[in-house]
Amino acid sequence: APTRYEAEKGTYSAGSTVDTNHTGYSGTGFVNSNNAVGAYVEFAVDAAAAGNATVGIRYSNGTTANRPADVLVNGTAVATARAFNATADWDTWATSTLTAPVKAGSNKIRLSATTAVGLANIDYVDFAASGGDGQAPT
Ligand code: GCU
Ligand code: CA
Repeated sequence: APTRYEAEKGTYSAGSTVDTNHTGYSGTGFVNSNNAVGAYVEFAVDAAAAGNATVGIRYSNGTTANRPADVLVNGTAVATARAFNATADWDTWATSTLTAPVKAGSNKIRLSATTAVGLANIDYVDFAASGGDGQAPT
């Protein structure tokens, strides 16, 4: 099973807020980024071994326009201006899933807005590394 990393427990660009004014989020809120190119949410995720990982990004975009973002792993873009398309409203969440190479140990996954309106609202990342999640077995 993937490991869930809540956006509100990650790091985010100055001016971003953890909000609760829309329903359906996981954890204690979601990150509403500041409105700027380069606005970001970053997740520190653990992988037991190097390999390809599946990254599922849960977001909401209650506008009518795409909110594209670059996806960077350890500073390297693995997706450029990836679409975070409109959802029905701000209470409706969608998951955008991509595959990205990771190294063993801690990895930084950053969503970085490519337009002046900033990111979609970001709820969490579900992260599944091919070699396991780096957590002790339970
Ligand atoms: C509204 C909405 C926020 C969202 C913002 C935006 O203010 O309530 O959750 O982040 O629009 O357009 O980015
Ligand atoms: Ca916002």
